[in-house]
Amino acid sequence: MNSPCFVTFEGIDGAGKSSHIEALAAWIRARGHEVVLTREPGGTALAERLRELVLHQPMDALTEALLVFAARRDHLLNCIEPALARGATVLCDRFTDATFAYQGGGRGFSLEVLTALEGWVQQGRQPDLTIWFDLPAATAAARRAAVRAPDRFEQQDEVFFERVREGYARRAALTPARFVRLDASPSPAAVWAQLEAAVQARAAW
Ligand code: TYD
Repeated sequence: MNSPCFVTFEGIDGAGKSSHIEALAAWIRARGHEVVLTREPGGTALAERLRELVLHQPMDALTEALLVFAARRDHLLNCIEPALARGATVLCDRFTDATFAYQGGGRGFSLEVLTALEGWVQQGRQPDLTIWFDLPAATAAARRAAVRAPDRFEQQDEVFFERVREGYARRAALTPARFVRLDASPSPAAVWAQLEAAVQARAAW
């Protein structure tokens, strides 16, 4: 069995994916593999600066889409592609499905333009596996209320996050073989059990 090399993690804010990504990185490293743990927007010095702008500066939807794809381009060239080339496993907290879900679904921005940008920026590169932490927007909102100050996306209402969720569902329907949907509603231990089972079914780590 060929293990997936480029694995992405998706879901609406409050789905609880971050701690599971770190746990999975430790799980793979414990089996003797190099893991590069990274995130979007971000993952390089330039992309992290763009992240600050995207998360905190008011801007229109096209500017937002261009900045997340600019960050992605730098991240691909200077982090993801070199890591894959040397045989590392790349675990990335969000990638282009987030753009289709947030800018496309949440903001209602043109999917056609996003598809064109995806082609330009990625030159065919796609994740081998995408783990989608799915849960209702209301449950995610209750979880978010318990944590830190919200950024520009986290300030959005439940209707926005339901559209983001639908955006993820549409992306998953387009390439179902790439996606694993986890039910992110139960306890962290129960979500981890689903994640571990999904990974063991698809990887030889
Ligand atoms: P994330 O790192 O999950 O946030 P946090 O640090 O709060 O856990 O994601 C940052 C935000 O950026 C999130 O609300 C989703 C948004 N985002 C987009 O709108 N488009 C994108 O293409 C990406 C990658 C993220």
